[in-house]
Amino acid sequence: MMDWTDSHCRVFHRLLAPQARLYTEMVHANAVLQGDRARLLARDPRENPVALQLGGSDPQLLAQAARVGQEHGFDEVNLNVGCPSDRVQAGRFGACLMKEPALVAECVSAMAAAVAIPVTVKCRLGVDEENDYDRFAFFIDRVAAAGCATFFVHARNAWLQGLSPKENREVPPLRYDWAYRLKQERPALGIAVNGGIATVEDALAHLQQVDGVMLGRAAYHDPYVLHRLDASLSGGELRPRAELLRALRPYVEARLAEGVALKHIVRHVLGLFHGQPGGRAFRQVLSEGAHRPGTGWELVEQAIAATERRVEPA
Ligand SMILES: Cc1cc2nc3c(=O)[nH]c(=O)nc-3n(C[C@H](O)[C@H](O)[C@H](O)COP(=O)(O)O)c2cc1C
Repeated sequence: MMDWTDSHCRVFHRLLAPQARLYTEMVHANAVLQGDRARLLARDPRENPVALQLGGSDPQLLAQAARVGQEHGFDEVNLNVGCPSDRVQAGRFGACLMKEPALVAECVSAMAAAVAIPVTVKCRLGVDEENDYDRFAFFIDRVAAAGCATFFVHARNAWLQGLSPKENREVPPLRYDWAYRLKQERPALGIAVNGGIATVEDALAHLQQVDGVMLGRAAYHDPYVLHRLDASLSGGELRPRAELLRALRPYVEARLAEGVALKHIVRHVLGLFHGQPGGRAFRQVLSEGAHRPGTGWELVEQAIAATERRVEPA
């Protein structure tokens, strides 16, 4: 997710969910080829398995970018066919590609020919007022035939006019049944459902119907849900929040030694005590302290101590 799932975030999420597959922010193929790769493709080995999400619609550029992603150690390349922003539409990529199955198939085919790692697609159900399951299934079949065996279905339409990206994650109605039907009719495809999944119970219910669940906002705002889901699926023990956070310390100290400011890392952990006594105090200690130059791990300990005192700020 753009601005959210950078490498620091993914290292933290990996500690919470050892079994999960993590996804980068979307990076445009041109940026991969011409931009600052050290920044755009930053990845710590402890994050893996992690997928690089690409944006674009030029098959050859996407193929080259996919190859670069593979060389940089990513385990999967995922093509974004879901982003509805004006900027993305103007560049003819993202959700508007739901209208161009032949082009998406060409992109996937070129990418799959260029790499040995899986090429997957994240898509919507359709665009605008379309309400045609057969058209959605046609898109999937066309792209699957080109070499995509796994789809991440954000189970609502994207409305290309008149809604902001934020509204496009909330207003078009969710129709999980389309993803379920797809899985029933095409059992050989891997189908993961996305959109509005916020609890372990929701996730487990979806997993009765499809192969995977993708959590976006809930995973970021309430990251402990990732841990609870991971533990529930693997049968592992639930570890306390503070213990999980302390496992991040070696990573944080290594980055601080390289000159990374603490605020760039701890912004991703603010939701760890979401809904817990002391959760607001935890957030407040970190957000007020982390921007001060030279702040180190001791601030994180202070924030943990604030939850243990269960003192809420006035
Ligand atoms: C801040 C933000 C950035 C996002 N960036 C991306 C992105 O780069 N690529 C993508 O496929 N989806 C992106 N999304 C959409 C989410 O991946 C997801 O499809 C959507 O939020 C619905 O799932 P959720 O209800 O679990 O959040 C973004 C969402 C948010 C809130």
